[in-house]
Amino acid sequence: MSCLRYRWRGRGAGLSAQPWKFLLLNMVTAVGRSVPRRDGASKVTGEARYTDDLVVAGAWYGKTIRSTIPRGTIRSITLDPAYDWGGSRVVLVTADDIPGDNVVDLIRDDQPVLARQGGEIRHKEEPILLLAAADRSTLEEAAEHIRIEYVPAEPVFDPAQASEVYTTIEIRKGDDVEAVEGVEVVVERSFTVGLQEQLYIEPQGAIASPTPDGGITVIGSLQCPYYVHRALKRALKLTDQQAVVVQAETGGGFGGKEEYPSMVAIHAALLARKAGRPVRLIYDRHEDLAATTKRHPGVITHRTGVKKDGTLLFQNIDILLDGGGYCTLTPVVLSRAAIHASGPYSCPNVRVRARAVATNTPPNGAFRGFGAPQSLFAAELMVEHVAERLGISSVDLRRKWMLRLGDTTATGQKLTESVSSDLVLDAALKAVPPVPPVSPSRPSVRRGRGLSLVFHGSGFTGSGEKKLSGTVAMEALADGTFQILTASTEIGQGTKTIFCQLAADALGVPMGRVTVAPQDTSLVPDSGPTVASRTAMIVGRLVQEAATEITERLKREKAPLRVEKSYIQPDSLHWDETTYRGDAYPIYAWACTIADVDVDVTTGAVRVTDLVTAVDCGKALHPVLAEGQVEGGCLQAVGWATIEEIKMKDGGYQNDRLATYLIPTALDAPNIRTILVENPYSRGPFGAKGIGELPMDGPAPAIIAAIHDATGVWLDEIPATPEKVIAALARKPA
Ligand code: MOS
Repeated sequence: MSCLRYRWRGRGAGLSAQPWKFLLLNMVTAVGRSVPRRDGASKVTGEARYTDDLVVAGAWYGKTIRSTIPRGTIRSITLDPAYDWGGSRVVLVTADDIPGDNVVDLIRDDQPVLARQGGEIRHKEEPILLLAAADRSTLEEAAEHIRIEYVPAEPVFDPAQASEVYTTIEIRKGDDVEAVEGVEVVVERSFTVGLQEQLYIEPQGAIASPTPDGGITVIGSLQCPYYVHRALKRALKLTDQQAVVVQAETGGGFGGKEEYPSMVAIHAALLARKAGRPVRLIYDRHEDLAATTKRHPGVITHRTGVKKDGTLLFQNIDILLDGGGYCTLTPVVLSRAAIHASGPYSCPNVRVRARAVATNTPPNGAFRGFGAPQSLFAAELMVEHVAERLGISSVDLRRKWMLRLGDTTATGQKLTESVSSDLVLDAALKAVPPVPPVSPSRPSVRRGRGLSLVFHGSGFTGSGEKKLSGTVAMEALADGTFQILTASTEIGQGTKTIFCQLAADALGVPMGRVTVAPQDTSLVPDSGPTVASRTAMIVGRLVQEAATEITERLKREKAPLRVEKSYIQPDSLHWDETTYRGDAYPIYAWACTIADVDVDVTTGAVRVTDLVTAVDCGKALHPVLAEGQVEGGCLQAVGWATIEEIKMKDGGYQNDRLATYLIPTALDAPNIRTILVENPYSRGPFGAKGIGELPMDGPAPAIIAAIHDATGVWLDEIPATPEKVIAALARKPA
């Protein structure tokens, strides 16, 4: 795999921030170099301690007893009277043992920590009881002596039939889309996207320990220490100080450890509180697959109106996402889906109607991309369908439609800097050789190529960053070292390394003199969750600012000293939550993906052979880590597009084992090439923009376009499993 880098010496507002350019030329020693990663050696040597590696003296094991039905009420919970339920053997926690609110604190207060007797069940695997014991065999034995009876109700699995709506969003730009004049061609098409499991390498887990002050300390595998902190305080009725949340070394998150760890932490804490001793609650892979959140599946329908020359006149888009049994983060996922739904294109008249509904499956939640991959999949394939109808090249159509400097997005956001649609498109096209012919020894294989162009808003949506006001601290210590204090977590993406790079360069010291404080809520301020492609760009910028202020103060004062920096929304950004108008994101990152596929027309098997992605990251703070983000995201997208399929049965996931839930392995991985384009963002640290989620957006539509190029058939649904490919080929007119 190779990495080409372009530095754009562009025009206009992108270069308005002269100070950082000066810095780049004069002081940069760490930023932009692929320095050894901070967490690298300990992970490679096995020294790193993940949650289940931690030895906690006297800790018991915890277990969650879950519903076996998708919908109904709990008629009775019966403990076998003949079994020894003595507290020295086994501890049982029910909803009655919750000292605070029986709610997993998030957006809506709908999800209980534990369902209670007489209470509602809204999905299979819903937590009802918790058990702890000194050893796993007692735990399993005790679980056998509990009987839960239900009054089942008729479950809803089809989102189109759902009666409960979690949230709706409407975006309007320009005139009433169906009344636009001059429309010569209208193309309408629906697209369906499936569930996807994050499949972090380390399953969910937490260890809770009671503390002498009546509080609880939880250490676990998580992305967002302060989300867990807030949820823990509420359910266990703890003060800020009594609740302590510490991130253990974490084996991946991808959104899957954005909200779900609050549930695991509260459960472990309730058991620890009742048992009066530490309790470890570690999911195995089966439980993790069966019970935790997935990417929202959905149906996205487009009606696009154009002139015969391709001029885009209107986009009318309908989005339906399936939220599952509880709301979790669904409203914000839907928001990102809606805002990205028109694609990276400039259209005068847009209407997006989006809704997310309740069904009786386990709740869907955060997953890298967070709604954008779903809606961009449809937007990108729509470009293909319109181009096909008009008989013009889809690349030419993209050039005609794509957002450029000064254009406005569907929410009316005027793009004033770092717009890279043409840069990434040109860079990707330049990087690919002609499609090589298939070897004559493989007569059933058809080869094709497809392209997509996407953008992704970096940071929280709308006023999110303003409301959050993330805070970092930095300390200059007496020994001449500097410590960065943030709640932003290392989940494999490189937080610790790039924060040290940014601080070292802003301080003008070698990286060795910069350390990172543990992600422990009793030590570090709330820099916000590690989500939304915000860590390098938003929190990294605060780290840089804190370091700059320390440098200034050290000219007059002596160490030790400490500074704090909080995010301040620039005055130029405006967002209206009620009308969905304004600056939806501080900035967008851009990517163009070109996928080459081999399709075996006898078996229907799709193999993605090559994937070239040009990404505008503003500035590659650490090129190898940036490339790693792109490669990882692309491979996850290849899985979503081709093989990752969840089969539902009675509201549960039928293939909830690694033997049956397939993801791409090294053998399935295409040759991935990443081209990092640097079109700086004036308010990003050294020009950097967030790119954590962006690589998840582009590959799926490019792969479907490549399958069409290879076979002449359009799939409207992913994953493109052999069954779907064969069925589509069979429908194809001869
Ligand atoms: Mo996320 S899907 O913003 O962790």
